[in-house]
Amino acid sequence: MSRTPETSVSPGTTDATHASHATDTRRTSDVLVVGGGIIGLVTAWRAAQRGFTTALVDPEPGGGAAQVAAGMLAAVTELHYGEQTLLGLNLASARRYPDFAAELTEAAGQDIGYRRCGALAVALDADDRAQLREVHALQVRSGLESEWLSGRECRRLEPMLAPGVRGGLRVDSDHQVDPRRLSAALVTACERAGVTFHRTWADRLTVVRDRAVGVVTTDGTELSADQVVLAGGSLSGRLTGVPDDVLPPVRPVKGQVLRLTVPKRFAPFLSRSVRAVVRGSHIYLVPRESGELVVGATSEEQGWDTTVTAGGVYELLRDAHELVPGITELPLTETRAGLRPASPDNAPLLGPTGLPGLLLATGHYRNGVLLTPVTGDAMAHALTTGELPDVARPFTPRRFGAAALSEQHA
Ligand code: GLY
Repeated sequence: MSRTPETSVSPGTTDATHASHATDTRRTSDVLVVGGGIIGLVTAWRAAQRGFTTALVDPEPGGGAAQVAAGMLAAVTELHYGEQTLLGLNLASARRYPDFAAELTEAAGQDIGYRRCGALAVALDADDRAQLREVHALQVRSGLESEWLSGRECRRLEPMLAPGVRGGLRVDSDHQVDPRRLSAALVTACERAGVTFHRTWADRLTVVRDRAVGVVTTDGTELSADQVVLAGGSLSGRLTGVPDDVLPPVRPVKGQVLRLTVPKRFAPFLSRSVRAVVRGSHIYLVPRESGELVVGATSEEQGWDTTVTAGGVYELLRDAHELVPGITELPLTETRAGLRPASPDNAPLLGPTGLPGLLLATGHYRNGVLLTPVTGDAMAHALTTGELPDVARPFTPRRFGAAALSEQHA
């Protein structure tokens, strides 16, 4: 990524910076969203649509992890053990995507690259096949549609796959969207809905009499609001002034991603998104109608580091080449790393916190793009009623509060 910070939360300013400008202006809104990634943007858009005067603070709205993400909407093919509750939210969001895409396209006058292409998950060797069989069993137990195919059947669907592919899963309900277009469209939709953008960093949360009442930006502007939504991606846990007991437990998980271009003479290189287990490593390839082919992703606990490494690029290309040998013919157009905002249970933190006036929309980890529609709806509901809708109730930030954790360990 070109910049380390994913959000409007300042990665670290000094008290001197804050103090030297602290008196300039005071701007007021009903809702103030801290963070202009796709989660902050969709929250602001939906809030403005509900009639709230809404402001958003971020130096570069539309930046962040969505600039790196591939945009696979993979509720089924990316199912993991122990994530059954999250599956419900993922499926709810996947079901909303067609209407969400149509509404956003209309509101912004921009296409977001939503493509109902289906997905194929394949295995390279016998161990990979055993692993994929387990995933299939879990999908079937979870009531999901997923069809086991032989290697030959996989290659009939995707002729560029290596002859060694041992089998796979056809999932017609997993699709894709272009996260860069999604971000750009959300910025435009927010502008058209009247959201005010403050293109700067949030320095600290302002708390008065045990209530969040706004933020002070690094240029000293005081932004006050009835409700503040912290949607700062992987930096959400770093906003100064947030009391420890409501500070979201999110951490950055680095993902390196490659972008290649499929020249017209090779098209269609792949017709759907392809995931694979390649000698135990996981990889995915997402082909866009524009000819872009996105290959991802590493998963690295490296703190705030967003360096693209030779090792990361090598591993992705090595596995992609085993899976689709022809890939080495394609121009490599971009290498980039982003930070997923991970939470302790891999699920997002949504809605009111124990601090009145402060809500969270963060911790979406691997599923930020998929969960954008349902997050927008859930946050609009929470801002309007003070409660989460049923579908989002398990994702209350209160599940990580001191009381909840001591109950779980009792
Ligand atoms: N969901 C894709 C990733 O996190 O890499």
